[in-house]
Amino acid sequence: MHIAVINGPNLNLLGVREPERYGTSTLAEIEARVRDRARSLGVEIGWFQSNLEGALVEAVQGLRGRADGALVNAAAYTHTSLAIRDALLAVGVPFVEVHLSNVWAREEERRRSLLADLAVGVVAGFGAESYLLALEGLVAWLRGPRNNPAIVQV
Ligand code: DQA
Repeated sequence: MHIAVINGPNLNLLGVREPERYGTSTLAEIEARVRDRARSLGVEIGWFQSNLEGALVEAVQGLRGRADGALVNAAAYTHTSLAIRDALLAVGVPFVEVHLSNVWAREEERRRSLLADLAVGVVAGFGAESYLLALEGLVAWLRGPRNNPAIVQV
């Protein structure tokens, strides 16, 4: 099973960027933790970060036929990017929307996601742990009884 992790703008600055909000782990440290957890779950990880919307669109397009699922922290583009939404719709790869911070406890503009209704689920507010929880959830969803009416997506 191959899971792609796609990270949007300014996440390359984690560790120094608003540590009181986003924590002190760098993106490389989060990547290492995700890879570690993936190993114990027996899944492969692809890791990508860009500050450019078009590059993120291309990364999403590249998931087709290559990834079984994705974790997507589109950062600020979560709240603005129809292009990333369209790419996710086009490829149809199951994904979990991830945020370090609880976006619903923040400014009005961050309470809207253009991606969340397409996602299998959303994990937000647990700092770096959000990525690990999202990975566990997505892998369980991909492996699990997806035909169980109790959890099937409507
Ligand atoms: C973020 C939340 C976004 O609103 C913000 O623009 C980010 C990070 C998060 O992980 O908490 O850059 O996606």
